[in-house]
Order: sequence, then C-alpha cells, then structure tokens
Amino acid sequence: MMQHILLCGGSGTRLWPLSNQQTPKQLLTLFDGYSLLQLAFRRNRFACNKVMAIVNEQQAEMVLEQLEQAGASAPVCLAEPVGRNTAAAIALAAFVADPETILLITPADHLIGTPDRYAMAIETAGILAAGNHIVTIGLVPTYPETGFGYISYAGHDVLRFVEKPDRVVAEAMLAAGGFLWNSGIFCCKAGVMLQELQQHAPAIYEAAAIAAAEWKSTGALSRETMEAIPSDSIDYAVLEKSSLVKVVPTKMDWSDVGSYEALADALSQHYQYRNHQAVFIESDPRKNLVIGKDKLVALVGVENIVVVNTASALLIMKRGRGQDIKQLHQWVRDNR
Ligand code: GDD
Ligand code: MG
Repeated sequence: MMQHILLCGGSGTRLWPLSNQQTPKQLLTLFDGYSLLQLAFRRNRFACNKVMAIVNEQQAEMVLEQLEQAGASAPVCLAEPVGRNTAAAIALAAFVADPETILLITPADHLIGTPDRYAMAIETAGILAAGNHIVTIGLVPTYPETGFGYISYAGHDVLRFVEKPDRVVAEAMLAAGGFLWNSGIFCCKAGVMLQELQQHAPAIYEAAAIAAAEWKSTGALSRETMEAIPSDSIDYAVLEKSSLVKVVPTKMDWSDVGSYEALADALSQHYQYRNHQAVFIESDPRKNLVIGKDKLVALVGVENIVVVNTASALLIMKRGRGQDIKQLHQWVRDNR
C-alpha cells in the first residue's frame, strides 16, 4: 500500500468570491456534497492506507475535519505557517514518511471524471515507483496551455520535461506531437524523492530536513524554519533535472478547475448539479451558472452568464472571462 500525500496549499484566487483564503477551491462542497479534497481522498484510497495533507495553517482544522468526514482514519496534517511551494511541501512529506514507503503525491483540487482509467494509471505508476523511479501521470494535451509542464516521451521513458513553456514553445510542442501534459500527480518512494532533492536542490533538502526535524519534535512548523526553505516548484527543482523520471500516459477526463468556465463544465458533466435557488426565464440553465444560497437569483433572457452570490460579494460575469478574475481579486485585495 502507498501513502497518499495531499498538496493543498492553493488559495484559489481564480474562483473569487466563492473561494477565498479561509475556504479555498479545494474545500468547497460543490460536488454532490463533497469537496475536491474529499473526492481526491476517495479516488486514491483504493491504493493507499495512510493519508498526509500538507496545508496552509489557516485551513488545517477544516482539512482534517473534511478528511475524517470522508472516511480517513488518523489523517496526518502538516500545517505550514507560510507556503514555500511544492518542492518544500513534498520534501517535508518525504522526510516525515518512512523512506521505503511509496508516496502518491496528488493535488487536492483536481477533478477526474474517469476514475477507472485513473486507477489503472496509478497501479502502473506504483509498479514503476517500486523500481526506484519518480513517476508522473501524463495527459494527452488538447491546447497550447502555458501553465502546465510538458513531457516528451517514448513509452514510459521521459526524453525531456519542460515546465511552463512560453506560448511559442507550447504551440510548437503541440504541433510536433509526442508530448504529454504533466498532471502534477507523482508517485515515488520517499527515499528516492529525498535523494533527488539532495542532488538537484540541496538548499531545499537541507532546510526542509531542519523543518521536518522540528515538526517531529514539537508537532509544529515555525514560520522561521519554513521561511528558510527556498521557494521552488518540484517541477523546476527535480522533474526537469532528474534522470529517474518516468511517465504513465493516460487518456483520462481531467480538470484542474482553474476557472468558473471549467467549474461549470465539470458540474454539468459529472454531477447532478442544480443551479442554487435560481429561476430561468428564456435562459438556458445549462448555459448559465448560478452559485449562492442566500437569495433567489432570477435570470431573464440572458445566456452564458455566471452569477456568484456570497455574503461578502456578488459577481456577475460573462462566460469566457474567467481569466480576468485573478486581476479582479487583486483589485479587491488592494482596494477593500
Ligand atoms: N502545501 C502546499 N504548500 N501546497 C502547495 C504549495 C505550497 O506552498 N504550492 C502549491 N501547492 C499545491 C497547490 O494547491 C496545488 O494543488 C498543487 O500544489 C500544484 O501547485 P500549483 O501552484 O497549482 O502548480 P501549477 O498549476 O502551477 O503547476 C503544476 O500543476 C500542473 C497541472 O495542474 C505543475 O506540476 C505542472 O507541471 C502541471 O502541469
Ligand atoms: Mg495548478
């Protein structure tokens, strides 16, 4: 059995005002009463007998509560007073775990619509990880996204790993073919990850060792020891550099729910989602997304509208403008 490592440091700024620092995207219970965190736990428990979440300190209590509610027994939580990106979070988890244990490291905020294909990929990944590889689940790319990692591959072999290419490079890779997206789902022995961190990112390795030792002796991470860990993603720190990386290509239905458009698609495809308290007059409920329980929302003669009605803010957005929310969130933070 593997140990599930849940990365949940995200602040979900692209789903403001629905998600915020206290209740980020992964903790919203929008999916048949489950949150993305709970779905991630349930999707992986077939392969894992232990779960450890690496979270922002502000959300630690809620994460533990949600994991227990979803059926986790004795979940462990590493609460970060300050996030130092994924290399730090993964290093901490690897130091705390037993070196021979295979870690299944997954984000807490992805949605996967084809659990059977996912499970098959994880089984293969586990076998490769037992042979001392760092395994990533690869996805067939559909457009030149610049926010993802790209993997040039042959079978399970990784020829090249390119994190977050610019637009020109992303378009060229898509046109050339033979590339996969990195899903951000990794599988490897704790000891193998530490060995690669030590070789390719020694400063992160050293500082994380100190922080993990502190956690083991006091049960908490202090701000000072966390701030001493250089901030970098695992993709730049290890995946681009290590020769131990393998990939399992999959064709699964996957979304990182990075915008209201992606959320609306996910909800209409996979969940018996009803628009909260809404009436539609000459407006197609499937093309409009209404979220918010406080009061009735009426849409009359409009299409492709997103309405998010929370206690603190009301968002009305034309579908397709989801990438502007980050900027909007920035404005709200600076001006309110
Ligand atoms: N605990 C903790 N602490 N978690 C973190 C931290 C941190 O400091 N930083 C990020 N995470 C969590 C996020 O919440 C998310 O679930 C996951 O780690 C990945 O981080 P992102 O910040 O979302 O990474 P990304 O989207 O830029 O890129 C990664 O994911 C892509 C797929 O979604 C990379 O792995 C790409 O290569 C990949 O394509
Ligand atoms: Mg992401």
